[in-house]
Amino acid sequence: MSRGRKVVVVGSGGREHALAQALLESPSVHEVVVTPGNAGTQGPSAIIGKSLRNAKGRAFDVAIAEKPDLVVIGPEQPLCEGLTDALSAQDILVFGPTGRASRLEGSKAYMKAFAEKVGLVTARYRIVTDGDELPQAVAQFSEPPVIKADGLCGGKGVVLVDSHDQALEAARNMLSGQPFGEAGRKVVLEERLQGQEVSIHAICDGNRAFVLPAAQDHKRIFDGDRGPNTGGMGSYAPAPLVNSDLLRRIEQEIIGKVLEGMRTEGNPFRGTLFAGLMISDAGVPQVLEFNVRFGDPETQVLMNVIKGDFCELLVSAARGNLDTGAVDLSEIHSLCVVLAAAGYPAEPRKGDVVLGLSEATARPSVRVYHAGTQLDGGRVVTAGGRVLGVTGFAPTLQRAANFAYSAVESIHFEGRQFRTDIGHRAL
Ligand SMILES: Nc1ncnc2c1ncn2[C@@H]1O[C@H](COP(=O)(O)OP(=O)(O)O)[C@@H](O)[C@H]1O
Ligand SMILES: [Mg+2]
Repeated sequence: MSRGRKVVVVGSGGREHALAQALLESPSVHEVVVTPGNAGTQGPSAIIGKSLRNAKGRAFDVAIAEKPDLVVIGPEQPLCEGLTDALSAQDILVFGPTGRASRLEGSKAYMKAFAEKVGLVTARYRIVTDGDELPQAVAQFSEPPVIKADGLCGGKGVVLVDSHDQALEAARNMLSGQPFGEAGRKVVLEERLQGQEVSIHAICDGNRAFVLPAAQDHKRIFDGDRGPNTGGMGSYAPAPLVNSDLLRRIEQEIIGKVLEGMRTEGNPFRGTLFAGLMISDAGVPQVLEFNVRFGDPETQVLMNVIKGDFCELLVSAARGNLDTGAVDLSEIHSLCVVLAAAGYPAEPRKGDVVLGLSEATARPSVRVYHAGTQLDGGRVVTAGGRVLGVTGFAPTLQRAANFAYSAVESIHFEGRQFRTDIGHRAL
């Protein structure tokens, strides 16, 4: 390890750019390769080392060819498909859960049964696979239930309805296989919970966890939480809703129980456990879902509150021997404003030229993470729905917001969309 570590990051979003940057800044790291990456991970200054855009297609091939000291898998899809297992079988160290452990995210029915088994506070639910059972199942709920497709649906598999009739219709539609194929052939009906949502990230080694400050994201496209759902229009951390007592309680009553339960099942959880929680008005953390990887855009803010050797933390977790001394949590607040393409989320337009990136990036206390971008000649052009995550960090949330929004002002592309109220709940 005399030259320092080489890390491969799998994915192409803002999350992966942020992870790659944090890894590159880790003292133990010499080189980071992002596959397939985006314009930000292969920029002219090669800040992230070299990036292989779709080198022969699959992440597996790239990871094998690069002979890395660590592979970090960003998105849920390759995790659920068993990329960790495949690489581990080739003696490559991977930060990310196995395919079996990834079912916590990959199957909502599995997650609900697991939550029940280990005694987590979560919404009352019922699983339906047979359309004939639907009317009776829906009627069991006194309020209209939330309808969820069992499998991965890229964040589009959950329907919130206003009436029992709408619930029935949404569940029927999912079961037909039309919108989501196999992922919707099993449906979870669940009680609708009230409260405020937070994202808790825990870096886990199978036995123990390093819990990061709570983050909040903003799913709706327009200010005031209006308009259609998106992959996330912004985020901030720490979220003051979760004070240190509540965070400790979440660590013990949720993260700890999951790790113990997964161990007991023979599927120890190594990787990032992301608990999507609804905090009730009485302050009770209720589990909405688990993800088995970092959130996007939560990662863009969380990477700014970690100091130290992030890579060492992930390597030690992947080896099953978490070194919590590798990093520190700084007293920094961070806030990320997503710039989305024209037409997002329905039909994002591609190919718009992005201007002003170097001015924005040159500002102090600002980081611009790329997501849906691509190089076209020497220019950066839009190539996806969420284009950039403009992130500020500062000793107060208000100042972090000011940094982020003034950097937003210097970036332009045709039809850009962003929210002006990121962090409003905490400001
Ligand atoms: N039981 C519930 N009560 C209230 N809102 C819910 C419930 N389940 C999900 N939601 C809302 O739907 C969103 C998406 O649901 P989630 O289970 O996180 O699925 P996914 O992220 O896989 O699409 C949540 O972030 C939350 O806003
Ligand atoms: Mg979710």
